[in-house]
Amino acid sequence: MKICVLPGDGIGPEITAEAVRVLKALGLEFEMEEALLGGCAVDATGNPYPEATQKLARAADAVLLGAVGGPQWDNNPREQRPERGLLGIRKDLGLFANLRPAVLYPELANASTLKPEVVAGLDILIVRELTGDIYFGQPRGIETRNGERVGVNTMVYSESEIRRIARVAFEAARKRNRKVCSVDKMNVLECTQLWRDVVIETARDYPDIELSHMLVDNCAMQLVRNPKQFDVVVTGNMFGDILSDEASMLTGSIGMLPSASLDEKNKGLYEPSHGSAPDIAGKGVANPLATILSAAMMLRYTFNNETAANRVENAVKKVLAQGFRTGDIYEPGMKRVGTKEMGDAVLAAL
Ligand code: IPM
Ligand code: MG
Repeated sequence: MKICVLPGDGIGPEITAEAVRVLKALGLEFEMEEALLGGCAVDATGNPYPEATQKLARAADAVLLGAVGGPQWDNNPREQRPERGLLGIRKDLGLFANLRPAVLYPELANASTLKPEVVAGLDILIVRELTGDIYFGQPRGIETRNGERVGVNTMVYSESEIRRIARVAFEAARKRNRKVCSVDKMNVLECTQLWRDVVIETARDYPDIELSHMLVDNCAMQLVRNPKQFDVVVTGNMFGDILSDEASMLTGSIGMLPSASLDEKNKGLYEPSHGSAPDIAGKGVANPLATILSAAMMLRYTFNNETAANRVENAVKKVLAQGFRTGDIYEPGMKRVGTKEMGDAVLAAL
């Protein structure tokens, strides 16, 4: 069981260190090796996804990633930006299925900006296609036409790309509440008309799943109006990027949400849904729980070890019940702790 660890930038190294401690404490035989991705890789090699990292990531069964990015790289040429490293590794490893759960822990019900009764018991899974769409479509670029600059990107999906992500959503729904809502913009975009058609065709193999469709603008509204109507939401790369950030804030704490990006054989890259938080980097105050929960997803999806995944998730629930809180989820009366102390608490709960 080989794990490639990519701490990345900002708070990435601090939070991955805690997840690594948790993985090591499970008594399983992991081989772990670290490499560079993102801004740190640009600084060291000029490439946000350097060759040494490519080798290690390709050879590993799973990748644990902290976060990439920071203001110091924002003005770099595009191919030397941290985000390119992230998009590069997703594409290189064929990680087309991005699973982003948004779960509200009862202990954190007050952290949401929505009324508690709207979000209590919330448990949504966003399945976002991750290697296609306008993120990767050709042609793209900024060019001059008739004496003025024109920016171009291309939204494109093939039916095989749509079918395989739809299958992931239907399979996931079978392990949950058997409802899939497919999100598109078929009233305007042909690309997403095909999306809807292919999702409907694929659904014939899943008669036990209740399929519905929603336009993306309506979905953005329904997510804050009545989020508990959703079980699994499946959508393309760009809509999924936007809707998953929105869904994460229903729980009030993006610092709690893990994610998994899987290929066709369940090799996966696991990372917190939040970013590199440069403003608090190096201060030892970041919340490591999303990364620790990402390690739990790794145990479940790549290593097929439901028992170990549950152990880690239960340990996280226990530390919340014990009142441990990092700054992002702190409420008066709770025990405010830093990154390392939170890691200690999870280890103790294990
Ligand atoms: C995400 C991020 C990335 C994306 C960025 C950092 C390239 O927002 O993982 O959601 O847009 O996919
Ligand atoms: Mg995003």
